[in-house]
Amino acid sequence: MELIRIPRIMQDTSRGHLLHGRGIGFVPTMGALHEGHLSLVRRAKEENDITMVSIFVNPLQFGPSEDFNKYPKDTDGDADKLRKAEIDVLFMPDASSLYPAGFSTHVEIEKLSEKLCGAFRPGHFRGVATIVTKLFNIVAPTRAYFGQKDYQQAVIIKKMVKDLDMGIDIVVCPTIREHDGLAMSSRNAYLNEEERKAATVINKCLVQTTELIKSGIIDIGSIRRFMKEKLSEKPLVTEIQYASVYDPETLDELERVEKEALLAVALKIGGTRLIDNMLVKV
Ligand code: PAF
Repeated sequence: MELIRIPRIMQDTSRGHLLHGRGIGFVPTMGALHEGHLSLVRRAKEENDITMVSIFVNPLQFGPSEDFNKYPKDTDGDADKLRKAEIDVLFMPDASSLYPAGFSTHVEIEKLSEKLCGAFRPGHFRGVATIVTKLFNIVAPTRAYFGQKDYQQAVIIKKMVKDLDMGIDIVVCPTIREHDGLAMSSRNAYLNEEERKAATVINKCLVQTTELIKSGIIDIGSIRRFMKEKLSEKPLVTEIQYASVYDPETLDELERVEKEALLAVALKIGGTRLIDNMLVKV
């Protein structure tokens, strides 16, 4: 595994591979790698000649009161995991090389960025789209891999790639879950034992709501009420930001579930914000 820190060297390395006709599979991450990230890496390895992973905690996608300064870091552990996974290149740039003084260009995906998480994290998806564009320009991947857990992020990146003719295949891979159903996330590390137990209510809520819809309850009022009641069973859930059914492409809330729908939840347990989702077909 080659470790590259300088964007220009990363760009030249990628160009060399592309000139030799080798396809590049790319997994962008913010580190603190878990099985969810590694499942993306394995998929990228299966489908491409060369596999590249980036680790960069992107300051632009965190709000002023968010967890940028305490975001979990495990650089040595991450490098070990990626070496064992036999990736080809680990790209780990410094913030100053990606955002030098005077940096002033941003990428904004209108409408989609304002919904769901966007309504509670202003500027978040602008930060994500900007860094992902920069990483795509530097790494020049053939395919890039994202998890379904961050469903809105994946929809926004697909839209950006289409609107800006980036010519990169975006592959969205299934959410990887703990044995009790909690979606894997680097932020799960913030939860204490009690909070970790309470967090299982999210997956339970999504599974039971799927069953409810399949049993024929398809109107938004009943579904929303059911989800909120279920999530509120846990006193440690301090804030439910959203919990409802949405159109999987536009992310608009549905009036009735008639074909495929996205069930999505964002809530806070103590100070930790968790999200999860499930697609349901009727
Ligand atoms: O999903 C993430 O880890 C981040 O949002 C990403 C895509 C690496 C951009 O910083």
